[in-house]
Amino acid sequence: MPGLFDPFSLKGITLRNRIIASPMCQYMAQDGVANEWHRAHLAGLARGGAGLVVIEATGVSPEGRITPGCLGLWNDGQAEALAPIAAEMRKAGAVTGIQIGHAGRKASANLPWEGDDHIPANDERGWETIAPSAVAHGGGLPRVPRAMTTADIARVRNDFVAAAERARDIGIEWLKLHFAHGYLAQSFLSIHANKREDAYGGSFENRSRFLIETLAAVRKVWPENRPLSARLGVIEYDGRDEETLAEAIELVKRLKAEGLDFIDVSVGFSTTEAKIPWGPAFLGPVAERVRRETGLPASTSWYISKPEQADALIREGKVDLVTLGRPLLADPHWPYAAAQALGVDNPAWATLPAPYAHWLARYRAA
Ligand SMILES: Cc1cc2nc3c(=O)[nH]c(=O)nc-3n(C[C@H](O)[C@H](O)[C@H](O)COP(=O)(O)O)c2cc1C
Repeated sequence: MPGLFDPFSLKGITLRNRIIASPMCQYMAQDGVANEWHRAHLAGLARGGAGLVVIEATGVSPEGRITPGCLGLWNDGQAEALAPIAAEMRKAGAVTGIQIGHAGRKASANLPWEGDDHIPANDERGWETIAPSAVAHGGGLPRVPRAMTTADIARVRNDFVAAAERARDIGIEWLKLHFAHGYLAQSFLSIHANKREDAYGGSFENRSRFLIETLAAVRKVWPENRPLSARLGVIEYDGRDEETLAEAIELVKRLKAEGLDFIDVSVGFSTTEAKIPWGPAFLGPVAERVRRETGLPASTSWYISKPEQADALIREGKVDLVTLGRPLLADPHWPYAAAQALGVDNPAWATLPAPYAHWLARYRAA
């Protein structure tokens, strides 16, 4: 079995190691446009040595952003701002990825450090939220969304396609659809959020429809030689986990039939009633089951912070890649420290620009 520092190939893409820098919202954009902050953050992650760096959840439409500070990809100016950032990431040896999504009933929120709750309805910074049904998420997100019409559903699907085309055209190599974390796609699948009585609600078949149609439409424009992945919440920890997980596995199989190449296993976050068993690499066994039963290459995330633990998840065949978030915020060069800890001569060193590559290739902590 390969380990953390073995390369990974999928479609026409090869990662220099098996570390994904997870998409992490920065809340620093204006009108969805990337700026100097995003350049420094993303280029830093790429120089840090991760094999794949995924740009944060990027709204496919203005109302699809989580907060007013989130990135967007609904116009060409936003794509133009991202293009040189992606080029810089590539120069540092990383494969470039982007996560595109729609925040659904969790949209129109304040920045995390300004409350993380819904912007009040009478505040002009906010906007109307839409979702499968007029059911609020609850907790700090009490706003009742407008139930989407079938015309809304078709429009959002087209928005995903247009965003994918823009990502394709600026040379992004790995596309990640945001089907997780209680945002729009996840809430179509979730019985907590979806109370529709038409072809998009009720049965598993119907609750899956938006996700399958969106994936299939995106696949038509996303190049065959570039990986198309999705992050899906496969479990809610709401007391009906076996049923949710079985449904999610069936859904992933159907997505695979429509052209999904890779699955990132995460939590649903569809209900405030969830009791999540937070702990080191707690999703490992869940990811292992999704990977085994669907036959798709997989990764997972959440509290994977130790090099030995990340390496073991891969060597034990639980996942193909690990998706790291906060460990890379704490130390973008975590991959170098991890290679040293594991005694691996990390080939990523050679892929860095000379001012780093020259020194790191020789450096060993005393
Ligand atoms: C600041 C921050 C922003 C995040 N933004 C996103 C995002 O844009 N898309 C997403 O799927 N997950 C997002 N997450 C979740 C992370 O991608 C990651 O899955 C999570 O933090 C768990 O991994 P970790 O324990 O390694 O941090 C975010 C997490 C953090 C801390």
